[in-house]
Parts: sequence; structure tokens; C-alpha cells
Amino acid sequence: MTDSFNRQIEYVRIAVTDRCNLRCFYCMPAEGIIYEPKKELLTYEEITRILKVLGGIGFKKVRFTGGEPFLRKDFMKLLERTSEIDAFNAIHITSNGTLLQRHIKRLKELGITKINLSIDSLNAERFHKITRRNDFEKVMKTFHLLIENGFAIKLNAVIMKGINTQDIIELAELSKNFNVDVRFIEEMPFNGGYKENIEMYSAKDIYADLNAHYPILNKIASKHGDTADLISVPGYKGNIGVIAAFSRTFCNTCNRLRISAKGEIKSCLYDDGVFNIRDFVRSGVSDKELANKFAELIRLKPKDGFEAEKMRKSPESALQSMSSIGG
Ligand code: 5AD
Ligand code: SF4
Repeated sequence: MTDSFNRQIEYVRIAVTDRCNLRCFYCMPAEGIIYEPKKELLTYEEITRILKVLGGIGFKKVRFTGGEPFLRKDFMKLLERTSEIDAFNAIHITSNGTLLQRHIKRLKELGITKINLSIDSLNAERFHKITRRNDFEKVMKTFHLLIENGFAIKLNAVIMKGINTQDIIELAELSKNFNVDVRFIEEMPFNGGYKENIEMYSAKDIYADLNAHYPILNKIASKHGDTADLISVPGYKGNIGVIAAFSRTFCNTCNRLRISAKGEIKSCLYDDGVFNIRDFVRSGVSDKELANKFAELIRLKPKDGFEAEKMRKSPESALQSMSSIGG
């Protein structure tokens, strides 16, 4: 399925909940956000039906996000059902790592071994300051257990001026002994209204820090649809990535569609929801009608995140939280 800019769209990100047990301040205010009532969420039946339809029009990869996906009841059941859909050869998860420890064995059995973990600092105090919760030890333990069990881990760190820029090198050093991609992400203005103006620490600033510390950094060829520019330090096992999430320099190879927990389709992270697929599904449409609707939405996908932003109906982008958008 290609869009009108000839991009192959084959990757769907589905938020299974808008709830989270952490309160990362780049994502939500301390008191949290107003969560959707359960009946507003796509059911697991609806999600698997949508995935089958998407599989039928060429989608191959799904990432489950949230909020924190492991907070939703029986999330493992959804993973089991998804693993039975032939079209999807890649089932990935983005998690904060606080609740998944006890599921490691089952995940491995299901072949779900690609997990993105959010870890913004290796300093317990700063981790606490950023997430407003005391889960640093637990998350690090999970990180190590996942590595020991052969999972392919990408570590996401949102870099914020005056908060955790001093963590960049220490985090990058994790790629020395572990086969992980340590990815630094520019902060985006989706924090549930917690703060209006973000002081940018840009991809350029992050590169400057890395270049100042490492005399040689090799460029790694990127895979189609990658949002991270990957580099590596010679002799290191893993890679370092920089994601220009705010500068939006990767839109020309975008391959994705997002579905929020309540079924709001985003053809771009920066649009404000172009269609509610849950209501459409609940209106009793056939699989064919559903497939046609997805095809139509893909055709309307904006050129890039700047175009998407211009087309927004409501200007208050900062009032959205990544937790309800789907991280
Ligand atoms: N800016 C950039 N990245 C964000 N994430 C959450 N909120 C923001 C934001 N405002 C990231 C988290 C997580 C991923 C799902 O999204 O770090 O790794
Ligand atoms: Fe794609 Fe929008 Fe993200 Fe750009 S900002 S990569 S167009 S989803």
C-alpha cells in the first residue's frame, strides 16, 4: 500500500491504553491526564480484526504502545492472538519496563523479542525526577534480564536541556558491552499541557556532544522507515541513534500509521486525528469497507510532520499527551 508520495505504508502502531504508571514530565503533568473510560477503548477483538484487515493490504509490522501497554488487562492475550496473524512478521512493543519482567518467558515463546524501553537517565535520582516515580532499579533489572534472554532492545531517551544532557555519554556507553541501540530523542511538545514552551536540545546538539566525546563514529546504513540515524563507536557491540522527532528530517521515508487507544487514526504523529476507526468498526462495516477506508486514509497521509501540523483543526498541540497519542 503506497501513499500519494510513493511511500510504502506497512507499519502500524497501536496504543492499547492511554494509562501509564509513570508520570514522565515530557509526557504528562504530575496529576496525570484524564483517562478514557474503558468502553471507549478498542477491544482486543476490534484490534485483531483491524490487524487482519491491515495484513490483507500489505501491512507487515505492528508495534503496541500506550501509555504503558502492560497496564492493560490481559495484554499478553492480545499478543498471543496477534502472533497467530500470518501477515505480521514483526510484533514489537514499546514499554516503560516496569511491569513486563514476569512476562519475559512467554514473550520469548511467542517470538516477541523486539522491545523498546524508555530510560532517560542512568542516575536513579534524575530518573525519579523525570518519571516522578521510583522505579529505576526495577527498570534496569528488566533491561538486563531482557538482554540476558536475547531480546533485541532499543533504549529510548528523550533529551532535555538542563535535565539529562549530562546522561548522553553514559547512556551511549551502554552500547559498548550490550548489543542495544541507544537512541536519543528530541523532545516534542506533546506533554499533556504540562509546559508550553520546550527549550530544544536538538539532534544537532546531541551529535555535537557525541562527536566531542568519541573521536570516531561510524555511520550505519539505515533501514527503510527508520526514524533514527544510527552511528556506532568502533569496537562497540551496539549502536547509538539520534531521532530528530521535532526537527522531522525523516518524513520522506515514513512507513507508518498510528491508531490511538480509542481508535483515532493518525496518519502522522503531528496531525490531530483524521478519523475514528472504532466508531467505523462499530457501525457494522464489512472487512472490505474497512480495507477501503484504510486505503483512503493512507492516500491522504500528509507529506511530512510540518504539513500535518498545518492541517490540525485545533492549535493546542501541547495539550495532547504522548500517552494518549500513543508513544
Ligand atoms: N517528546 C519526545 N518523545 C516522547 N516520548 C514520550 N513523550 C515524548 C515527548 N514529549 C517517547 C518516550 C517513549 C516513546 C514511546 O515516546 O520516551 O520512549
Ligand atoms: Fe511520518 Fe509524521 Fe512521523 Fe513525519 S512526523 S515521520 S510524516 S508520522
